[in-house]
Amino acid sequence: MNTPAIEMLGITKIFPGIIANDNVNLEVDSGEIHALLGENGAGKSTLMSILFGLYVPDGGIIKIRGKEVKIGNPNDATALKIGMVHQHFKLVHNFTVTENIVLGMEPVAKTGNLDLKHAAKRVADLSKTYGLAVDPDAKIESITVGMQQRVEILKILYRDADILIFDEPTAVLTPQEIDELLAIFQRLKSEGKTIVFITHKLKEIKAAADRCTVLRRGKYIGTYLVKDTDEDTLAEKMVGRAVTFIIDKKPSIPREVVLKIERLTVAGSRGITAVHDLSLEVRAGEIMGIAGVDGNGQSELVGALAGLVPVKSGRIFLKGKEITKENIRLRNENGQGLVPEDRHKHGLVLDFRVDENLILKSFYKSQFCNRAGFIRFPVIAKYAEKLIQEFDIRSGKGAATLARSMSGGNQQKIVIAREIDLSPDILIISQPTRGLDVGAIEYIHKRIVEERDKGRAVLLVSFELDEILGLCDRIAAISKGSIVGIVDAADANERKIGAMMGGVAH
Ligand SMILES: Nc1ncnc2c1ncn2[C@@H]1O[C@H](COP(=O)(O)OP(=O)(O)OP(=O)(O)O)[C@@H](O)[C@H]1O
Ligand SMILES: [Mg+2]
Repeated sequence: MNTPAIEMLGITKIFPGIIANDNVNLEVDSGEIHALLGENGAGKSTLMSILFGLYVPDGGIIKIRGKEVKIGNPNDATALKIGMVHQHFKLVHNFTVTENIVLGMEPVAKTGNLDLKHAAKRVADLSKTYGLAVDPDAKIESITVGMQQRVEILKILYRDADILIFDEPTAVLTPQEIDELLAIFQRLKSEGKTIVFITHKLKEIKAAADRCTVLRRGKYIGTYLVKDTDEDTLAEKMVGRAVTFIIDKKPSIPREVVLKIERLTVAGSRGITAVHDLSLEVRAGEIMGIAGVDGNGQSELVGALAGLVPVKSGRIFLKGKEITKENIRLRNENGQGLVPEDRHKHGLVLDFRVDENLILKSFYKSQFCNRAGFIRFPVIAKYAEKLIQEFDIRSGKGAATLARSMSGGNQQKIVIAREIDLSPDILIISQPTRGLDVGAIEYIHKRIVEERDKGRAVLLVSFELDEILGLCDRIAAISKGSIVGIVDAADANERKIGAMMGGVAH
């Protein structure tokens, strides 16, 4: 028997009000790709943060390559050749790739000067060995998210890591980048590296992992050989019940136009035109999907609709009223709801509590605020409790929990609950299920269909073709900032939409 690379035995970690890890075991073989699966808030990030020295456990022992160790901080982890790629990258944007990689362990020449040349060569060599194709001299701000992730990988390889932890690495990637990352995993494995990766996507586990450990509500459920376990079984192990992947919905009954976009042009971040002469109508009672590869103007389109990005030309109408230049509160009051793509930047105030985040858009209304302008705290508490139950928002201290301390998926549920419960006439949702577990996705999809059936208009922007095909009634493909074509979902399939996303008109 080979000694396992990682043994975490009986790990317990307690946060105020919650046992995030309750006597958890994780054993990972050397040279294995091991997936960590579990519901939102199950304790995956906590367990990996303990392995990387970000948290000290309240109980349990850790053995690395057979030897018991104490990992008090990330420097201890680095010394044990453990590296972690976080979901939110930690790169300096106006530094080059090499500068970022050597940060904190800058190579010094005999003269005492910084020796970046030597480092750049080593970065180039590593990049070549693992097929990462990263340009050592490129500035971070000019490369894609996928490339930035590779820089993070290089950063830990540069520090000689041979145990690599990835916390939801695919959540921010396009489908093609995901395939590339999984191929990189295989290359790392063939060079003898050990990989632990967290994902909610069972398809990725089937495609890449050797074994999979499942956690549920802080507890260890089991470890499974992936090739012998199907997706349904994995889903059931993690949620504790069977999950249906098929979205149950009747044909739509579209009515009047709620959102009308007329010849909209929006500038992108570097002066280039991101949305170009785009027209689109979304009707009450239908779900319109925007399918496209990331970076084809989706973010700027949603930004313009939200009132966050100025419009260069063209007009936007909400229920017949022009709102192109209106402020954000007026858009809300007129019946627009929005789930933004970046929950940390635009969806939440991270240092506010759950209940405060849930009333961000309605705190001033008479329901929550009396005539003297005082907030009705008991009413808000009751309201928050209702949404916490309905959307299964899990955290240590319920309504009083700070959003910052919550798991990614539960943060996302706060945003979705707030926006759906406002009952907007048009619900604009961008990447709504990013970071959600399969059970939560099933529920959110059901709620979106229910909103449609109540006669609301829904505009869904998603990079996940499965989600677009399963949920939408009509699908508009976007390419280079323009709509290439619109098809009924009933006539659509992956190939057809894929071709349209590539710019082939229907
Ligand atoms: N720093 C913290 N302070 C207080 N509670 C925390 C902290 N970090 C995590 N928790 C709580 O511990 C539990 C487990 O969180 P964790 O982030 O490990 O979940 P997860 O499995 O990674 O979920 P997700 O899939 O949503 O990312 C959650 O209920 C969370 O609210
Ligand atoms: Mg997590």
